[in-house]
Amino acid sequence: MSGHVPVMLAEVLATLAPHDAGTYLDGTFGGGGYAGAILGGAACTLWAIDRDPQAIERGAALAARHPGRLHLMQGRFGDMVSLLRERGVASLDGVVLDLGVSSYQIDDPARGFSFRFDGPLDMRMECDGPTAADLVNDLPEQELADTLYRLGEERLSRRIAHAIVAARATAPILTTARLASLIRSVVPAERSGLDPATRSFQALRLAVNDELGEVERALRAAAELLDEGGRLVVVAFHSLEDRLVKQFMVTAAGRAPSPSRHDPRGLAPRTEPAFRLLTPRALRPQEAETRANPRARSARLRAVERVAPIRGGIER
Ligand SMILES: C[S@@+](CC[C@H](N)C(=O)[O-])C[C@H]1O[C@@H](n2cnc3c(N)ncnc32)[C@H](O)[C@@H]1O
Repeated sequence: MSGHVPVMLAEVLATLAPHDAGTYLDGTFGGGGYAGAILGGAACTLWAIDRDPQAIERGAALAARHPGRLHLMQGRFGDMVSLLRERGVASLDGVVLDLGVSSYQIDDPARGFSFRFDGPLDMRMECDGPTAADLVNDLPEQELADTLYRLGEERLSRRIAHAIVAARATAPILTTARLASLIRSVVPAERSGLDPATRSFQALRLAVNDELGEVERALRAAAELLDEGGRLVVVAFHSLEDRLVKQFMVTAAGRAPSPSRHDPRGLAPRTEPAFRLLTPRALRPQEAETRANPRARSARLRAVERVAPIRGGIER
């Protein structure tokens, strides 16, 4: 299994702009690529979260190279406020989130994230709780179809859900290979070359890990923790996540369209936004990066900076 190549690392570092004596949070430690660069970029303190216990174990080596500066926490980034407050940290100078899974996770057949290998149909980042196999074998047909449609934007969701329910009546679907071949048997191959199982696997992964719920919680939490001048930098890899990030940042920066003059909300005095948008348009990876690392292709980086002091609560 190869390591994880950090995506848009130079852009992340330039946007986060860590400074000496600052306190930062990497909410998605993964292979520690961003963390290593942040620690190397300034004499700062870095708190790092990952929900995957294997990522935290691997991080011990990096922590040992930066004694007293890198603090690893196993948990969810949606819980960053309590994870940090339990450790006496009430505010931050920057937060970075690199959403999704790492190459360590997706390239390990035993984790069950990928249709490219055969393995148990698992997909749990935390190695705990219900697996993808539990969803595939237990959800009612309609709920399964809704999940594939909503989280995978899969137009043929009903057809796939129907095939799954028929197949599981014979024997439970327990492996990535069986699920992938079942989907391929009912979804025609695409001219783009995209594997017909791609969207369904994405939907199941997002559902198993409640990834969109986590992103919503993390954005609000990061806004609550950032000090004046503090920056939130988020790299997202698919449209559902990126839409959440964009909407949150545009609203936090007061750039959301105003309600119409017929809407009573339009009568409320407008307050100065607490954030400014650092990326009016999402940054995309350079061509050289996508050539060297095709996984970077869909990355979008968005960032905001707090411009007003924290007033005992967050502006939503
Ligand atoms: C794309 S990788 C991050 C790679 C990292 N930036 C690097 O340079 O090595 C995403 C990581 O975030 C973790 N993760 C995803 N959702 C999470 C959540 N809600 N809370 C904590 N960690 C999460 C995954 O387990 C994975 O290790």
